[in-house]
Amino acid sequence: QTKYYKLDANKPDQVVLAEAAQLLQQGKLVAFPTETVYGLGANGLDAEAVAGIFRAKGRPSDNPLILHIDAADKLHQLAAVVPASAKALTERYWPGPLTVVVERQPQVPDIVTAGLNTVAVRLPSSLVARELIRLAGVPIAAPSANTSGRPSPTTAEDVLTDLDGKIAAIIDAGACRIGVESTVVDCTTPVPTLLRPGGITYEMLMEVLGEVEIDPALGGASVIPKSPGMKYTHYAPIAPMFLIEAEPQLAGELLRREITQALAGGKKVGAVVSSELIDSLPPQVIRTGYGSRTDAAEIAANLYTALRSFDNAEVDVIYAEGIREQGLGLAVMNRLRKAAGYRIIRN
Ligand code: TXA
Ligand code: MG
Repeated sequence: QTKYYKLDANKPDQVVLAEAAQLLQQGKLVAFPTETVYGLGANGLDAEAVAGIFRAKGRPSDNPLILHIDAADKLHQLAAVVPASAKALTERYWPGPLTVVVERQPQVPDIVTAGLNTVAVRLPSSLVARELIRLAGVPIAAPSANTSGRPSPTTAEDVLTDLDGKIAAIIDAGACRIGVESTVVDCTTPVPTLLRPGGITYEMLMEVLGEVEIDPALGGASVIPKSPGMKYTHYAPIAPMFLIEAEPQLAGELLRREITQALAGGKKVGAVVSSELIDSLPPQVIRTGYGSRTDAAEIAANLYTALRSFDNAEVDVIYAEGIREQGLGLAVMNRLRKAAGYRIIRN
């Protein structure tokens, strides 16, 4: 049975947090909110506890985990070297939705890094997350708290849908503010490499670094990914999804054409679209709005809930509208392409 704790995100009850932290110290799994998505936490220095994360999620063992810390100076306990790029990025964007990949210290268990010589580290800004980590007194390994392959959870309810009964406890402190995962930057390459776009935008990285490589795997499905997590189907709703990538003026037309064909073929159709297009679809379509196409932050915050909204809708196919790859739009499009298994429709 999974214990349920409800907390105020801005004034979390310390007694409750201490109880949850104690579970972590005992090697148990605790789901907790961060500013990006809910994480599934375990003592990051305890290989047995970390093995439990892989079991509960059904996660492939070659996909490494992020270690979460409660204070920036703790990076030095996990990193063998802190490159200038990592120093500059963390000074500017920690605490926050940024993960740096650095060479690891020997004390980091192999199971955390999937045997790699590097480790991913993040200092979240969420007060509940930081207090929990502080009270646990160890770095906390935490992937997103979903079943592997499913959209990440942005509410406690989403976590329970996937993991109820499989984990010791969950802390509910409401919906996550950002809604997509942290930005992952490999700081071990001569020019730092963006492995996963996220809450800290490409533009924000450029501001600090002046130069950023983009991992070729972000470009499409045909290249071999460097961040092991990027090779799996991810974030996917239950029904197959197609992504429309076109200029705003054309997207509506393209979407309606595809939907009309699917309906004519006798299919039950779902759609994830902007508030600009939602009213222009045929009446039979089961639709979810993800926000205005002019507001990537709003779309990021609503994205995974929108994808999960089709879980019980029994649609045969889902069409999603793409947005511009600016600011948080880069992370949104990365997740939408993966959720669509790279089934992309262009004009
Ligand atoms: O926002 C987030 O980052 C959330 C919250 C809970 O903090 N966590 C999260 O973890 O998204 P997860 O496990 O779902 O994604 C971690 C990503 C994966 O793509 C993984 O392959 C990559 O980070 N990663 C972890 N360690 C790595 C390493 N040593 N080298 C390259 N990539 C690494
Ligand atoms: Mg994940």
